[in-house]
Amino acid sequence: MEKKVYKLKKPVKLFILFIILFTIGAYFGNKYYQDYLYKHSNTYYLLELGYSESDVNILTSKLSEDEQKNIIDRGYNEFIPSFVNEKYFMFKNLDKYLDQVVTKDEDFFNYVGVDGYDYSNIVAIVNVHQDETQYTGDYKTNIDDNYALLVNKHYYLGDYTPDDLVNIEWKYRYGGENDIYQIRSDVYNAFIEMWNAAYSDGIYLLILSGYRSYADQEKEYNYYYNLRGTTYADSIAAHPGYSEHQTGLALDIYSKECSSQNDFENSNTYKWLIDNSYKYGFILRYPKGKEKITGYNYESWHFRYVGKELAEKVHDLGLTYDEYYAYYLEK
Ligand code: DAL
Ligand code: ZN
Repeated sequence: MEKKVYKLKKPVKLFILFIILFTIGAYFGNKYYQDYLYKHSNTYYLLELGYSESDVNILTSKLSEDEQKNIIDRGYNEFIPSFVNEKYFMFKNLDKYLDQVVTKDEDFFNYVGVDGYDYSNIVAIVNVHQDETQYTGDYKTNIDDNYALLVNKHYYLGDYTPDDLVNIEWKYRYGGENDIYQIRSDVYNAFIEMWNAAYSDGIYLLILSGYRSYADQEKEYNYYYNLRGTTYADSIAAHPGYSEHQTGLALDIYSKECSSQNDFENSNTYKWLIDNSYKYGFILRYPKGKEKITGYNYESWHFRYVGKELAEKVHDLGLTYDEYYAYYLEK
């Protein structure tokens, strides 16, 4: 019996050959293409510049495409990844962060510690403009921010007067019966709600100072200036036009348990406020240890109304209001 031999027809053979060659071509082509892409990627350029793999991970995961290109154009800088890795890093401030490292400002480094760069502090200080000259009026307070507005040594309020000031009842005030204390209407309502809550916990809140006009603040500042000069006055009182008291949103709170204002931080009233004031829309504005950021000495008595929602956020993040505003509101 004749053995049957299966023979492939020529076109089929050619087709199979084509498939094989195409597969090989595609494999190497793709490899070449992938290689080409890699050699034109930001990761490759950054590694080539001398950044480590962990640096590159930081730079490529935290920065946008354009920002990565900007970093590549700068060439290698050992400080950049540490700044980029900071929680409150803002790309627009990168040059100013780097300036702080390069200039090694004595005052600044006395504060952040000369042994190592305190990236968090540099970021915080630059974000809030504290690396710039104070009281230049370069930045204006945005009145439209309403309860969220920012006033500090860089954000100038000018001669603003709130139009909804109300008189504070005598029972809430520390001063004499005939003194006039004022505050913005919503702040007063929030304060009364807080006062009632404190009272039911056995705490009796008293207001030492509320709204102060531009002229009142001028007197306030001059009082400290005449007492001990500029450095002292600047650390505890704002220049006129730069005080939160002029917004009608700030309250200095006191308690009868204290013998002096500096003693307030040891009072039960203070402890109660720290635990509860944010629930009523108030935040401690000049916290301890944040003097270089706020620009003022620690003031355990100065509370600022920002509204309940915002107060809770600022409280939970543990930021000064200057930092919060720079990162979350102004950004
Ligand atoms: N004591 C605060 C900083 C003020 O004068 O507004
Ligand atoms: Zn105050």
